[in-house]
Amino acid sequence: MQLDRIRHTGLHQKIMSAEQASEFIKDGMTVGMSGFTRAGEAKAVPRALAERVKNNPMKINLMTGASLGNDLDKLLTESGALARRMPFQVDSTLRKAINNGDVMFIDQHLSETVELLRNHQLTMPDIAVIEAVAITEEGHIVPTTSVGNSASFSIFAKQVIVEINMLHSPKLEGLHDIYIPSYRPVRQPIPLTKVDDRIGSTAIPIDPAKIVGIVFTNQSDSFSTVTDPDEETAAIAHHLVNFFEQEVEQERLPSNLGPLQAGIGNIANAVMMGLLESDFKDLTMYSEVLQDSTFDLIDAGKLNFASGCSIILSERCNAQVFNNLDKYRDKLILRPQEISNHPEIVRRLGIISINTALEFDIYGNVNSTHVCGTKMMNGIGGSGDFARNANISVFVTKSIAKNGAISSVVPMVSHVDHTEHDVDILVTEQGYADLRGLAPRERAVQIIKYCVHPDYRAAMLDYFERACQRGGHTPHLLEEAFSWHIRLETQGSMQKDQSVIRSLSA
Ligand code: COA
Repeated sequence: MQLDRIRHTGLHQKIMSAEQASEFIKDGMTVGMSGFTRAGEAKAVPRALAERVKNNPMKINLMTGASLGNDLDKLLTESGALARRMPFQVDSTLRKAINNGDVMFIDQHLSETVELLRNHQLTMPDIAVIEAVAITEEGHIVPTTSVGNSASFSIFAKQVIVEINMLHSPKLEGLHDIYIPSYRPVRQPIPLTKVDDRIGSTAIPIDPAKIVGIVFTNQSDSFSTVTDPDEETAAIAHHLVNFFEQEVEQERLPSNLGPLQAGIGNIANAVMMGLLESDFKDLTMYSEVLQDSTFDLIDAGKLNFASGCSIILSERCNAQVFNNLDKYRDKLILRPQEISNHPEIVRRLGIISINTALEFDIYGNVNSTHVCGTKMMNGIGGSGDFARNANISVFVTKSIAKNGAISSVVPMVSHVDHTEHDVDILVTEQGYADLRGLAPRERAVQIIKYCVHPDYRAAMLDYFERACQRGGHTPHLLEEAFSWHIRLETQGSMQKDQSVIRSLSA
């Protein structure tokens, strides 16, 4: 049964334990691992490595597609194995180590990592550790629930360890579309003009001689932790659907809106859920992560096709999807993240991007990553790949966080991930601001009127009006621009009146 999954029989001799395979990873190496947003990560070898490093200290530079599941970032951090980590993470232990300066974290646009490798602007991986469903007759690797950066890591690395996960259905084979762009400056256009175009191979083409170890595992991906929509996220979804309806009415969008991208997390998932109750149909997705909402929309007959680079699902949805893969087979493609997030394709297809902000300011600059300008949350992920090149770039957030102690709309963002030039529509549960074609002073009026929470609206208007008196194209009171963040750090709240916060949390 296990051997059936290694169809290149010459590779049967490479089967070994995770502990043996982890010995190929040496101190100082750059390691490329599979895994994207807690889906499809190699599971046993990183765990064995973390165990080994506890007794035999060493450091590696770890690159992945995005975040790892099954607590692997936590275990590797606790073991002290990580010197450098890129390009994304979501783990609280690793986050702490990054913010303490113990792990050097390179927060990167997710489409760019392998492009930088290809141009030798980053150190090439010495070894790749890739989760697979199977190895083909040619010795090529069939990935599992994510493609991420696995293809390029395997192609660039000198050695490859493959983890064959018996828990993943062999029916995943055929879902992937592996296309690797050629070298610049003679690169041809990527031949993808529709979300469902297949342009590559179903397995990662490598020289099988590079495979130094094959490990069998039997462990599921971590389940997604997204929560059900709440009152605020449902309101955000409602405003966005309302906006889409008006765009269609004004003939600025086709009736099926064009391909959609939705970011990670609770809010983006809830927004997509909002489309379930709408009248929109024949929707398509050209996105990065496919979450529960994607499959709920397919089941409801509203979404015709979804292209992504990973699938991360709740326990409920996981069984529904992976036990019924035949039902979804002709509606799904998983691509390398370089292609799922490629600026050329995002611009060509006219994607509507929907990503989540931690905070945005009165002129439309967005901070998605740094709490109070200094502490890393998760990373920029693919949000910049999409926002910069989208047909319409939407950012969503609740207008307040932490029981009202934080206003998500601030005078000036404490860190900028997406500049005012890359942001079209801002949505909170209060309403939406359409910033297209507006000058900074006009944008501020829309944002204060439609997005700011009522508890902060007067203070924001006061700031803006006094800034306007001082003048400038983008008026600010520099000595006050971060006063809201400073108040949060020193007094625990951006609010001047503490009684408001008490009543909100009651
Ligand atoms: N300041 C500090 N903390 C804030 C905040 C702010 N302005 N706004 C929200 N938060 C906190 C919330 O309170 C919550 O904290 P908790 O985990 O302790 O409860 C946490 O941030 C997550 O917020 P939540 O409201 O649950 O939103 P989410 O799950 O949708 O995540 C982001 C929001 C911004 C963290 C997440 O979307 C992200 O990392 N985005 C950047 C990467 C990205 O966009 N990738 C997708 C590209 S395809």
